[in-house]
Amino acid sequence: MEIIVQPREMQQRSEQNRCQGIVITFVPTMGYLHEGHLSLMREARKRGDVLVISIFVNPTQFGPGEDYAQYPRDMERDLALVQDVGVDICFTPSANEMYPDGFQTSVEVHHVTENLCEASRPGHFRGVTTVVAKLFNIVKPHLAFFGQKDYQQLIAIQRMAEDLNMDIEVIGLTTVREADGLAMSSRNSYLSPAHRTLAPGLYRSLVKGKELFARGERNAATILNAVRGMIEKETAAAIDYVKLCDARTIQDIDTVTGDAVIAVAARLGTTRLIDNIILREE
Ligand code: PAJ
Repeated sequence: MEIIVQPREMQQRSEQNRCQGIVITFVPTMGYLHEGHLSLMREARKRGDVLVISIFVNPTQFGPGEDYAQYPRDMERDLALVQDVGVDICFTPSANEMYPDGFQTSVEVHHVTENLCEASRPGHFRGVTTVVAKLFNIVKPHLAFFGQKDYQQLIAIQRMAEDLNMDIEVIGLTTVREADGLAMSSRNSYLSPAHRTLAPGLYRSLVKGKELFARGERNAATILNAVRGMIEKETAAAIDYVKLCDARTIQDIDTVTGDAVIAVAARLGTTRLIDNIILREE
C-alpha cells in the first residue's frame, strides 16, 4: 500500500489511472478504523481495480467546543488494520494542505441537512459536504462508499453528487454492529465502562420501533413514544432527538407511508452517539 500526502500527487495518480480505464473505488474516513470502516473497504475492493481510502480528521465539520482536538488518532494502528483488506493507496493530507490560507469556498446541501443533527451541530454538514467534494475532486473515484450508520450524511452526499453532476456513484452500506447491537463508531472509545454497558439500549429501542412497524403500526407518534420510552428506561441517556423521517427527504412524518427512518442522537456522559433503523414494507 502506498501512502500519499500531497493532494496534487493524489490527483495526478488518479488521472493516470482513469486514462488507463482503471476503475477507482474510494472510502473516505477520519481514521481510528473499526470493522464498520473495513466492511466498506472490503466491498469497495470487490467493486473496482484500485482502492483508495482517505484518513483525514476534517476540522471544518467540528463545531467550536466539539471534539476535534480529542478525536482519536492512531495512524500506525490504522495502517496495520487495513493490511489485509487490499487497499492500494491511503491518502492522508494535512489540514494545511486541504485548507490553505485564503480558502473560502463551501458546498452546502439544503433541505436534507436541515433536520436531525443540524440543530445541535450547526454547520456540520456544510463541513462534511465541502471536504467530501474536495476529496472527490482529488481522488476522482468512479464509486464511493459510505455507511448507513451516518444516514443523514449519506443522503446529503448522494444529493450533492446528483445535484452537482458529479460522475460518481455514491453507495450506502449497512451498519456494522458489536455483538450486543451497539453501532461501531470511533467515538465508542470515549465511553466509560458503565456507559458502554448501557449504550446497546439505543439500538434495542430502535429495533422495538421497527417491531411495532412490522406489526402494522404506522403512526409516527406511537412508534416514537415507544422508542423514546425504552431509551429513557434502558439507558438514561440525554436524548438529543428521536425522530421518524421520510428516508429520502429527511423531513419529519406523522404517518409511515413509504420508506422511513427512525433516527436517534443521545449523549451518554459526554459521548454523543447516533444510530438509525430503516422501516421498509417487506
Ligand atoms: P468516519 O466517522 O470515520 O466514517 C467513515 C465512513 O465509515 C462513513 O461513511 C461512515 O458512515 C462509515 N461508518 C462509520 N461507522 C460505521 C459502521 N458501524 N458501519 C458501517 N459504516 C460505518 O463519516 C466520516 O468519517 C466523515 O464525516 C467523512 C465522510 C470521512 C468526511 O470527513
